[in-house]
This record gives sequence, C-alpha cells and structure tokens, in this order.
Amino acid sequence: MEIDVFTLFPEAFAWFERQRHVVRAAEHDHRLAYVNYRDHTPLSAGQVDDTPFGGGAGMVLRVDVVDAALRARYGRDPVELRTERPVIALSPGGRVLDDRLVDELAREPSLTLLSGRYEGFDERVLEHFASSQLSIGRYVLAGGELAAMVVCDAVLRKLPGALGHEESAVEESFSEALDGGPEYPHYTRPAEFRGWRVPDVLLSGHHARIREWRLAQSRARGPGAGGSLP
Ligand code: ADE
Repeated sequence: MEIDVFTLFPEAFAWFERQRHVVRAAEHDHRLAYVNYRDHTPLSAGQVDDTPFGGGAGMVLRVDVVDAALRARYGRDPVELRTERPVIALSPGGRVLDDRLVDELAREPSLTLLSGRYEGFDERVLEHFASSQLSIGRYVLAGGELAAMVVCDAVLRKLPGALGHEESAVEESFSEALDGGPEYPHYTRPAEFRGWRVPDVLLSGHHARIREWRLAQSRARGPGAGGSLP
C-alpha cells in the first residue's frame, strides 16, 4: 500500500512515523509519503490559502494550489487522477470512519489523503479533485493532519506485517470475527488485585471455554458500551 498525505505540516507526522506498527509497515514495503502544498504553490509569495468570497472568518485552501500539488506529484490532471486512485479529502462532513471503511481502504493499493486547514478547502477541490470525503467524527478539528494520522493508523495496522504475531487485528473490536461487536475484556497479572479477581475461566487453560466466554462477553457488551462522561 502506498499512502500520500498532502498537508501544509508534514513535520506534524514525525511522532506518528516512529510508531512501531508504522515502522513495521514500512519494513513490509508499505509506503507513507508527504507532499507539502506550499512546495508547489504557483503563487510567488508562497501563499496557499485566501479569505472566503462573500466574507466570513478563517482562510480557505486554494483550488489552484491543490491542483498544482496533485499535478506535481502524479503528473496528470487531478480531475482524471480521481478515477485512477482514491483521492480522499479529510473533512468533518465526509463519510464517518468506522471499521468497515478502514477495511475498504486497507484493500486499496494506494491512497491519496488531502488535509485541509483553517476553514477547509475551496469547494471546487471537493467537487472536482476528491473522489470522496472522509470524517473522523462529527466535530471540527483545526486541520486535517490529525484526521490523516487517524486514518493511516487504522489502515496500516490492518496490513499484513504491520502488527506482530502477538497483536492480531483479526479479532478486535468491531471486526467481523466478533460480528462487529466490541472486543471482550482483557486481563493480565496479577490475577487478584484489591480483591478484584480475574474471571476463573481465563485461568483455566481451557481454550474452547475461554473462546466461548469471550464471544459471550463481546455480545453482552453490545454497541455503545463504555459508559458516559462522569
Ligand atoms: N478536518 C477538520 N475536522 C475534521 C474531521 N472531523 N474529520 C476529518 N477531517 C477534518
């Protein structure tokens, strides 16, 4: 898988790049690259955004700047590009990311993620260059970088080789193996702490019973488990 992230802040990804599953994914020939819109702006002052027509707060990422950055990277008209590979604009109003969408993305050989900033993109970027829009939740972030990291994190850990043997992504929350349900509870040593005992079945060494218990726990938790704010 090859992922290109278009951003004004490639340096924001330095921490993310050092994460174990990201390093492992790179060792397995998956590639994560960054394109800085600013490196390709056709405007002499290095400008990438402008005030919105009609007035209003904030700045809007310019369509000509995004056009130039996509052309520089792929050597073709971005209007055609989106028919050849997913060009996904990160936007609070897009399709909300969930495990099913992560699986869909993980099956693609390549992805282009467009991060916006400030008030987001000139609408023509979304209309003519993006093949889809993706949101990591119905709230507004100051920019798409964190959203891009969330997408890359969730996608990369699904790829073969990104997780070690000991950390399978097959049977985790919302996976098909658990019928889309939340994951079962995990415990580790000590087996008892302040009188709180680990369920006996987990200490039994009886694999079939453990499996049955785990599936039952996942089902019993149901959607939306996890409690509310205090
Ligand atoms: N950019 C700003 N807010 C966002 C969100 N919630 N999801 C994706 N991209 C965004």
